[in-house]
Amino acid sequence: MTTATQVKTNDSGIRSKAEKGIGKWFGSSTAVKYDQDGIKAIFENTDKPAYIVRAEDGRVGVADSIGTDDKSDLVTAELLTTLPAYLPEQLGDAAFKEAYGLKYNYMTGAMANGIGSADLVIAGSKAGILSSFGAGGMVLNKVEEGIRKIQASVGDGAYAVNLIHSPAEEALERNAAELFMNLGVRVVEASAFMDLTPHIVRYRASGLSKGSDGAVVIKNRVISKISRLEVAEKFLRPAPDFILDGLVSNKLITPEQAELAKLVPMADDIIVEADSGGHTDRRSLVCLLPSIIALRNTVQHELKYKQEVRVGAGGGIGTPESLLAAFAMGAAFAVTGSINQATRESGSSDHVRKILAQADSTDVMMAPAADMFELGVKLQVLKKGSLFGLRAQKLYDAYVDCESLDDIPVKERESMEKTIFKDTLENIWASCVSFFEERDPEQIDRARGNPKRKMALVFRWYLGLSSAWANGGEQGREMDYQIWCGPAMGAFNGWVKGSRLESWEHRHVADVAGELLKGGAYLFRLQYLEMYGIHLHPTYREVKVK
Ligand SMILES: Cc1cc2nc3c(=O)[nH]c(=O)nc-3n(C[C@H](O)[C@H](O)[C@H](O)COP(=O)(O)O)c2cc1C
Repeated sequence: MTTATQVKTNDSGIRSKAEKGIGKWFGSSTAVKYDQDGIKAIFENTDKPAYIVRAEDGRVGVADSIGTDDKSDLVTAELLTTLPAYLPEQLGDAAFKEAYGLKYNYMTGAMANGIGSADLVIAGSKAGILSSFGAGGMVLNKVEEGIRKIQASVGDGAYAVNLIHSPAEEALERNAAELFMNLGVRVVEASAFMDLTPHIVRYRASGLSKGSDGAVVIKNRVISKISRLEVAEKFLRPAPDFILDGLVSNKLITPEQAELAKLVPMADDIIVEADSGGHTDRRSLVCLLPSIIALRNTVQHELKYKQEVRVGAGGGIGTPESLLAAFAMGAAFAVTGSINQATRESGSSDHVRKILAQADSTDVMMAPAADMFELGVKLQVLKKGSLFGLRAQKLYDAYVDCESLDDIPVKERESMEKTIFKDTLENIWASCVSFFEERDPEQIDRARGNPKRKMALVFRWYLGLSSAWANGGEQGREMDYQIWCGPAMGAFNGWVKGSRLESWEHRHVADVAGELLKGGAYLFRLQYLEMYGIHLHPTYREVKVK
């Protein structure tokens, strides 16, 4: 004989150490399930409460209702606890959803060159998530075209547009910010900032006014993506006086706007970005997120904003477990990137979608970045199905080892021309000259007197084109596709294996988000049972996409 204090395991895979329940459950005999499949089905209905019960013989089961009108079918059991309903839309901070008019606290981060396409943004907006248009790297008239398409389709619906800091070509950042202001873009995802610039401050401040109650009205929202504390702090605080003064003197904002800007933070929201696809500091989310939340709390304590800056999390999220982990650590909202490139709406090519859908989480590597090649900056790319990472690294090594193209050992140069460039380096240089003569002739002038610089421009030809080949699906160049991707992609693939989402053909951005959120809510609800000393067999934590 066992006593109630002994751990009881049974078919249901649920154990309880509780000596006594919290009351009595009574209901229909068909409402209680003692088998794992039946119980899992009840748990999966996260929109309905469930009742954890213990029968007289000690079996622990789960009922999907309480009470019954049919007295002849009435059974009773000890009630161990009630499991409340919990919906995917409850994950995260409701203030984020309210601020942007969303259904879920979920955002798809920008993906450059229109990989985060207008279609992706429109699909996200219609599903009640916030999607950011990947304006980085696109020419201005294409950015405008994309924004107009989004605006025409979503109406008052939410969307964001990416503003990338561009220290090397300031005009890019200035023109983009001006375009966004002219087109009435109300949410900007600001990324790659190391410091505040007049352009992002102007965007923010030019949308400020005083409401009839005297409170500051913020029209231009900023969601700043960061992976460093000192940058986070700049966005958590109001814009600095010297930038505001400069903007007022140049008549780019009014004196009143400058005064109002001193009362509000630079950003409404911060995305803490951990190890991710593309440019990444490869930080660990479990370390970075708590420290940025603590910093936000310190600044909030000091400045007492009416609405505190919300902190969201991205980087590595590709499973319900990782999504829930972000929320459990206090993220107001979750951000995904890599997993969205493999969806039908992304601006990438089918070949890329296909190989992304086959990747494991370790099939990624760091490779030299085109934009900051000379500085040795790297970004994260897909390793499986493309040789880009290895080839780009070979070019970077040659750049470090040699002083000029002529300095490269003959054999190595021949191998580069044959496998990487598929042309002579002289011809590639000629292409660079004609490209830059139209776009930025100074680059050529500087390279003519500097053979190392010339070598960098030639190598950057490959790094620049390889992402365009990937997006455009350039035939014959598949092994050179530069595909920005983080480990989240492989984690996602592992999770959806065997489900309808295994095949890239069936992946849609809203569906992917919906399944992740559903899974996150399911897991969150189960976590609650631990508080009552109710332990579940690990199979209950397997979240399957149907
Ligand atoms: C293909 C690709 C392109 C990206 N391009 C940009 C970009 O232009 N601007 C930006 O702020 N973030 C960019 N990101 C980062 C994402 O917006 C997002 O923050 C990140 O991917 C989240 O991490 P994850 O890849 O682990 O999901 C890109 C990511 C990917 C995968």
